[in-house]
Amino acid sequence: MQPFLYLAPLHGVTNRLFRRIYFRHFPGFDAAIAPFILATRSAGSQASHFKDLAPREEPGPRLVPQLLGNEASAFVATAAVLADLGYDEVDWNLGCPFPVVANKRRGSGLLPFPELVASFLDEACARSRLPVSVKLRLGRRDPGEILELMPILNAHPLARVILHPRLGVQMYRGEVDLEGFARAAGLCAHELVYNGDIRDEAGFARLRATFPGIREWMLGRGAIADPFLPARLKGSDPGTRRTEALLAFHDELYAGYRGILHGPAHVLDKMKEVWGYLGASFPNSGHLLGRISQARTIEAYERAVRRLFSAPRG
Ligand SMILES: Cc1cc2nc3c(=O)[nH]c(=O)nc-3n(C[C@H](O)[C@H](O)[C@H](O)COP(=O)(O)O)c2cc1C
Repeated sequence: MQPFLYLAPLHGVTNRLFRRIYFRHFPGFDAAIAPFILATRSAGSQASHFKDLAPREEPGPRLVPQLLGNEASAFVATAAVLADLGYDEVDWNLGCPFPVVANKRRGSGLLPFPELVASFLDEACARSRLPVSVKLRLGRRDPGEILELMPILNAHPLARVILHPRLGVQMYRGEVDLEGFARAAGLCAHELVYNGDIRDEAGFARLRATFPGIREWMLGRGAIADPFLPARLKGSDPGTRRTEALLAFHDELYAGYRGILHGPAHVLDKMKEVWGYLGASFPNSGHLLGRISQARTIEAYERAVRRLFSAPRG
């Protein structure tokens, strides 16, 4: 059976502009979770709050917005605006690892507090106009945290659970904890999505063999590093026009950012962040990628990109 693939939310990267252009050039994804926006009680009054999500995106893979917060009433109010915008599911971020978030008991900072998660979900699931899914990690500091949380998740009518098997304190470092994922999967009564470090076909094949019950998979960094990966994971051949597709994607994204960001520094920062992942598609090109990351002007950046794309590639 074909795997069902989600594009992971990468705040600052997989925004509306990126999604539109990426999905036009690179097939393979079935759905995406948008990067989080904050759940706020005054949600309805701030159109700018929804600029990454309004109007509802189509065509392209199904998009599920994501909310970050620990107040159920704010979640319910923000989900109502998303329902009015036409979305049909909302995801709750229980995984964000950054201390400024987690120290306020948001994102992964809530994972050690099962009673707070339970009371949040009681209200959110009862009052949200949209079905709720949850994206989380194994814990903030301890992979045992998920074992306490799973009965709570099971007791609520969630649309799905997406699990990235790292701890919050790990940020994005270290290995994914596959045993931790297996323990959680054994307890999970919901559709469970695996997320973390899917980078190539061989690794994906190993994960599928290890977790034969998992039908849905989520990829973030690996799919930006290698935009042809989602299609390959579904068995299709990206063909020979790889460089042309990457160049067209780059040029549209770059033109898009030049159109919406003020000042070259912001445009270059955004593009360099993308290159931080996409550079992996250009093996043995370290010195040319280095020129991109060192570019301080639009002219230097464009020169470096042209050189990279015209360099022979093995
Ligand atoms: C720069 C960056 C931003 C991220 N932003 C979000 C976010 O907004 N919401 C979220 O749930 N996860 C976020 N994540 C986590 C990813 O969605 C994903 O869980 C993680 O990168 C592991 O998957 P991967 O190895 O396929 O990238 C972010 C990760 C990175 C690196």
